[in-house]
Amino acid sequence: MTTYLVTGAAGFIGRSIAAALLARGENVRGIDSFITGKRTNLVGLEAMDFIEGDLTDPAACARACEGVEIVFHEAALASVPRSVADPVSTNQNCVTATLNLLMAARAAGVRRVVYAGSSSAYGDTPTLPKHEGMLPNPISPYAVAKLAGEHYMRAFARVYGLETVVLRYFNVFGPHQDPTSHYSGVLAIFCRRMLAGEQPTIYGDGEQSRDFTYIDNVVHANLLAAAAPAEKVSGQMMNAATGSRITLNDTFRILRDLTGYKGEPMYAPPRAGDIRDSLADIRLAGELLGYSPIVDFREGLRRTVEWYRQGE
Ligand code: UD1
Repeated sequence: MTTYLVTGAAGFIGRSIAAALLARGENVRGIDSFITGKRTNLVGLEAMDFIEGDLTDPAACARACEGVEIVFHEAALASVPRSVADPVSTNQNCVTATLNLLMAARAAGVRRVVYAGSSSAYGDTPTLPKHEGMLPNPISPYAVAKLAGEHYMRAFARVYGLETVVLRYFNVFGPHQDPTSHYSGVLAIFCRRMLAGEQPTIYGDGEQSRDFTYIDNVVHANLLAAAAPAEKVSGQMMNAATGSRITLNDTFRILRDLTGYKGEPMYAPPRAGDIRDSLADIRLAGELLGYSPIVDFREGLRRTVEWYRQGE
């Protein structure tokens, strides 16, 4: 039976992939260092073989990859502002960790690695939607680090024949996303604050837009990427998103209805390293994986608010 490894298994996206695999009755191993992962995210995943370890340690990577056929590499320090404050840590936990993992995967005879890429690789180019043929233009250390990981994926496919697939995620949100840090994703922060009757802060004028992608769509894309024929997908990179965008101001208004929050947002200066607009072209994932979104933004946001309302 195939054994799957999920890195960052105590993080928001990693735990969601692990849960979907376990629900299918698969053999799952998980690894997490708990730098940003949470032990509470492992509740419900008791059937997973869990290793506490850090991918910056090659020995931990070797242990994690033993006997594994397919890896979902979700571990990262997923934050643009965090990378602006501390680019070296982001590099270690995104680039060095990814290279260590690839080395261990190759040595252990892993067949395929599916990698969590980031839409931040596109940077602040005015062209919308962002398609995979565009030149990358990373503008934050986080974007640089995630993009370096993509290049390593492609190089390992080319040079060593390890099957690798890159999914460029666009602003993923949903249950289990940590709302407690100022490095958290905006929707997690807004859900928590607005449900508590606290005023959210919008950086900039709120007219920036994002292709916010509900977690189930990203899990779906990952499962498809793991199963797709190698001739079609190995060495490829594709967007994983919904293909629609919404401004922060409009999102705030929807959240006001969903949460019952009565106030207005506070506006603050724009954040360094932020990009203005983000929207994915999702045709390539459609062609290569048969992917299309399974949950739309509003329904995803409704489910997310309900989850935070029930106390995370
Ligand atoms: C970026 C990447 C995304 C990646 C994520 C990891 C882009 C387009 N997207 O997301 O793929 O997964 O980093 O962290 O580069 N904001 C507020 N108030 C808050 C918090 C945030 O107004 O309290 C604003 C930000 O300034 C930004 C927007 O909301 O304009 C989204 O921010 P965030 O959720 O942190 O994600 P990105 O930086 O867009």
